[in-house]
Amino acid sequence: MQIVHSIAHLRGRLTDLREGGAAIALVPTMGNLHAGHLRLVEAARQRARSVVASIFVNPLQFGPGEDFERYPRTLKEDAGKLAESGVDLLFAPPVDVMYPEQRKNTAFVEVPGISDGLCGAFRPGHFRGVATVVAKLFNLVQPDLAVFGEKDYQQLLVIRKMVADLNFPVEILGVPIVREVDGLAMSSRNCYLSPGERARATRLYEELCAARRAILEGERDFSALAERAMSRLKEAGFEPDYFEIRSASDLSPPVPDRRPLRILAAARLGRTRLIDNLEVA
Ligand code: PAF
Repeated sequence: MQIVHSIAHLRGRLTDLREGGAAIALVPTMGNLHAGHLRLVEAARQRARSVVASIFVNPLQFGPGEDFERYPRTLKEDAGKLAESGVDLLFAPPVDVMYPEQRKNTAFVEVPGISDGLCGAFRPGHFRGVATVVAKLFNLVQPDLAVFGEKDYQQLLVIRKMVADLNFPVEILGVPIVREVDGLAMSSRNCYLSPGERARATRLYEELCAARRAILEGERDFSALAERAMSRLKEAGFEPDYFEIRSASDLSPPVPDRRPLRILAAARLGRTRLIDNLEVA
């Protein structure tokens, strides 16, 4: 696996990888890789001859007071894991390569509607930052396929909408969440949890499972269901941002008996913001 840090080197290597019209899959990440990311690489490898991964902690998608500075940067370990997983090329640009004028005067990509509620309401500007950097990566790499995890379910839908609206010739593949044995969704941010918080963190997934069970058993008062889950999370020491049941296709309010639904939640546990979601098919 080659590692490139500049756009010129990226383009040079891509020309070689594309020889003979080979399909290229892109796996965009912010690094501190875990088994969930490696599952994305595996899915990419099954569908394309060449796999390009990117590692870039994107300042544009972090709000003031969020964890941009302390976000774990573990390039050496990450590069080892990607090489072992069969990635052909790793693009790991510094901030000034992606944003030569830093955050000032840069063009943005906005995806209104789908970006507005849920995480978008609690992290203003977050999805604009995500859509902008993903659009830039698509323009730089020009992949045939790009792979994203379903843990960031709203992000996945934002990217699908951006690709449809702006006619990017890229297929978007969503890959199911990879969980720890106790059910906690794998996340680069789980390393922020203290041992006590880590033991309690699985409660978020348990509440999603309880809500799904209730829906499958016939509960149709989705607001009451979500309110009960929010109260129980608070009792367990979380500060929930939201716990919501939405239509899975576009995150619109759910229509009873129309499926699939998606139950989505975000909650803080100490200094860590956890997100998770579950499908109700
Ligand atoms: O999901 C992530 O890790 C990031 O939001 C992404 C898609 C790499 C954009 O920075």
